[in-house]
Amino acid sequence: MAENIYSKGTKVWFPDKELSWISGEVTSLTRNPDDTVKLVFVDDRGKETTINTTVKEIKDGREGLPPLRNPPLLETADDLATLSHLNEPSVLHTIRNRYAQHSIYTYSGIVLIAMNPFQRVTLYGPEIIQAYSGRRRGELEPHLFAIAEDAYTAMSRDGTGQTIIVSGESGAGKTESAKYIMRYLASVNPPDAKSRARTKASLDESSEVERQILATNPVLEAFGNAKTTRNDNSSRFGKYIQILFDGKQEIVGARIRTYLLERSRVVFQPLTERNYHIFYQLCAGAPLKERKDLGLDTDITKFHYLKQGGPSSTPINGVDDGEEFRQTQTALSTIGISVEKQWAVFKLLSALLHLGNIKITSMRNDSSIDDTDPALQLSTRFLGVPLADFQEVDC
Ligand SMILES: Nc1ncnc2c1ncn2[C@@H]1O[C@H](COP(=O)(O)OP(=O)(O)OP(=O)(O)O)[C@@H](O)[C@H]1O
Ligand SMILES: [Mg+2]
Repeated sequence: MAENIYSKGTKVWFPDKELSWISGEVTSLTRNPDDTVKLVFVDDRGKETTINTTVKEIKDGREGLPPLRNPPLLETADDLATLSHLNEPSVLHTIRNRYAQHSIYTYSGIVLIAMNPFQRVTLYGPEIIQAYSGRRRGELEPHLFAIAEDAYTAMSRDGTGQTIIVSGESGAGKTESAKYIMRYLASVNPPDAKSRARTKASLDESSEVERQILATNPVLEAFGNAKTTRNDNSSRFGKYIQILFDGKQEIVGARIRTYLLERSRVVFQPLTERNYHIFYQLCAGAPLKERKDLGLDTDITKFHYLKQGGPSSTPINGVDDGEEFRQTQTALSTIGISVEKQWAVFKLLSALLHLGNIKITSMRNDSSIDDTDPALQLSTRFLGVPLADFQEVDC
C-alpha cells in the first residue's frame, strides 16, 4: 500500500547539486479513489516538490520517486546490510556519519569499506592486533584486522587458501591497507601458540621470515611508487602477494608477483609529478664517495629524468628522501640482497639518469652524439657498453 511506503512525515532523499543528496520529508499525501496519488515533499532548504503517481508505481518503485531515508538509529550502523532502505544516499550518509565519528571502517556484508583518514590514526597498535586475534567478525568494530583474522581462521579451520582483494581509486588507501593486513598476519599468534612449546631458535627463525616479508614493502614502494597529482605515494603497478603458511599456521614465506609497471614514467613525468622514489632517494642519500663515483648530485634539476615535474614536484612534504634511502637499503639487506648487489643496482639506476642527459644533435637525416659528452661516457661505462657500439645504434 502506498501509505505504507510514503506517509506524512516519511523521510526521503532528493538529489542536490551541491551536497549530492539533501534530506526531505512528505508533508502531504492524497490518495484518490482511482488509486492515483499526490505526494508533496519539502526538503531541508524549504523547497517544495509535488509528485503525481499511482499506488502501483509506488509499489513497483518507479524511477524518479525519492529514495527513502533510514531511521536515525540505523544511520550509523556498522553494517550497511542492516539498513532498512538500501539506496545510494543512505549508504553515503551512513558512511559519512561514521567517518564524522572517527569510524573509518564500515561493513557491507562480507565487504569492508574503508574511508581514508588522511592522518595517522591509533587503530593499528599491537594491543588492537591482540584484541582482534581470535575474535569473530562482528564481535568488535569493523576493522581490517577482522578481515585478516577471518581469512586466517578460515585457513586454519578449512586448510584452504584464502584471498583478500583490496580495491579502490588512486589514493583510496589500498597500499596502506595491504600493509596493515600483512602486519596483522605476521604478528598474530597461531591459535595454539601459548600451549605449544617453541624453541628459541624456531621463534627467531619465524620472526626473521616475517621481518623479511614486511621488508618487501619499502622495497616495492621505492622502485614502484611515485608522486602523482592524486597520491604522493602512488603505486604505479599492481601486485599479487601470496603469504605461505605451514601446517601449524605459521608463516614460512611469501611470493610476490608484480604486473603492469608504468615504465614510461622513467623517461617522462607530468607537471607536479615525480619519477620513481628510488631515483630521488639515491641522489639524496648516496654517501659522498658513491655520489661522486656515480656522477650523482643532490640537486635533482641536473637530471632531465627527474626534473620534468617542475620545481613543485620535489621534495615531497614530510618526506626525507635521504632517510628513505637508508630505509630502502636496510630493507634490501633484510630480504637478503647483499650491499654489493645493491650498489650494482644503484649503478644501473645512475646509468639511466645519465642516459637521460645525453644530448643528441640532429643534422638533416642523421643524428649524432658528441663523444666527449660526460653523460654519454658515464652511462655507457655503468651499462658496460662500449661507447662506439652505443653510438652506432640508430636513434
Ligand atoms: N589507514 C590509513 N591511515 C592513515 N593514513 C592513510 C590510511 N590509508 C591511507 N592513508 C593515507 O593516504 C595515502 C594514500 O594511500 P595509499 O598509498 O594506500 O593509496 P592507494 O590506494 O594505494 O593509491 P594508488 O592507487 O595511487 O597506489 C597514504 O600515503 C597515507 O598518507
Ligand atoms: Mg598504492
